[in-house]
Amino acid sequence: METQIRRLDYDKIDDNIINEAGQILRNGGLVAFPTETVYGLGGDALNPESSEKIYAAKGRPSDNPLIVHIADKKDLYRIVREVPEKAERLMESFWPGPLTMIFYKNEQVPETTTGGLDTVAVRMPSDRIASALIKAAGGFVAAPSANVSGRPSTTTAAHVEEDLNGRIEMILDGGQAVIGLESTIVDMSTEPPVILRPGAVTKEMMEAVIGNLEVDKAIIAPDSGVKPKAPGMKYRHYAPRADLAVVEGTTEAVIAAINRMAEQDEEQGKKVGIIATDETAARYARGTVFSLGERKHEEEIAMHLFEVLRDFDDTDVDCIYSESFEEASIGPAIMNRLLKAAGHKVIHV
Ligand code: TXA
Ligand code: MG
Repeated sequence: METQIRRLDYDKIDDNIINEAGQILRNGGLVAFPTETVYGLGGDALNPESSEKIYAAKGRPSDNPLIVHIADKKDLYRIVREVPEKAERLMESFWPGPLTMIFYKNEQVPETTTGGLDTVAVRMPSDRIASALIKAAGGFVAAPSANVSGRPSTTTAAHVEEDLNGRIEMILDGGQAVIGLESTIVDMSTEPPVILRPGAVTKEMMEAVIGNLEVDKAIIAPDSGVKPKAPGMKYRHYAPRADLAVVEGTTEAVIAAINRMAEQDEEQGKKVGIIATDETAARYARGTVFSLGERKHEEEIAMHLFEVLRDFDDTDVDCIYSESFEEASIGPAIMNRLLKAAGHKVIHV
């Protein structure tokens, strides 16, 4: 199959292209599209065959459910059994935006879309191309991140092309995704609600609206053996080809340790990569150094993380050391993705 790539301009979103893409989805085909978090690989959420195609295109296990994207809050009530009052308050505050909520599904949603579960994850993105596409497709678009299963999520159309060219009908190119990490997921089918994946909508932001929230233990203590509630969180994810380790400690100690380990590795003939920040990049004496941006701007770090992990796959480094990041605001989301990419290999210094 030949994948069509269509560039869209946010100042003047071309209705013809949106309608063409919407028609592909209505006919059971697949279209990748930008959202404010990462690019999504879209199919008609109410068509079981579309969901099958999504799993096949991504090489994703079909027990790993898809998020259903909507463009109108009212449409939520058409696919779920009930909407708890707390969910309504979160919708008021954070939809449209980078928040996914889990509800008991009704019979409109095929089990292929939810990986056999009786719950469904729903999100209303704020990205205007995404929103226009969802409307053109009939209102319900199932979309996992538009990457081959196991690879870092995609934050540009070029990344999507790298992973999915020839496997899907169309890619809508809206430039770089502004957040760069996938949405926060919160399970509203339990009381208190439970955060299954950290993202740009933080625990503190949600607690200010609805009070106490829990965090899935599989996120807090990944080695605890607790099975994550979001099936996707159990899979190794985002892993670059090279061995990645995250180095934790004070900034000075981390820089010294990475320089020392890089020297030892090079003596053994290994090629070393380093994930640094604008403030620290010049302090590494050897290795291939990529910066995530300014450490003091966490949103910049979040935006570039997946891109830098992908960039390392285009180099021939054998091992990568990464600096670690603050646990405040979007920090937990950054560290969650980084630690998963490293298979939880952490060096404390
Ligand atoms: O930002 C995002 O959420 C992006 C964009 C495209 O919207 N989408 C995304 O989808 O990250 P995906 O499929 O890569 O990640 C969805 C996660 C998976 O870990 C999946 O297991 C979990 O959500 N999930 C989906 N439905 C669920 C459900 N009913 N119960 C528990 N976890 C669920
Ligand atoms: Mg994903």
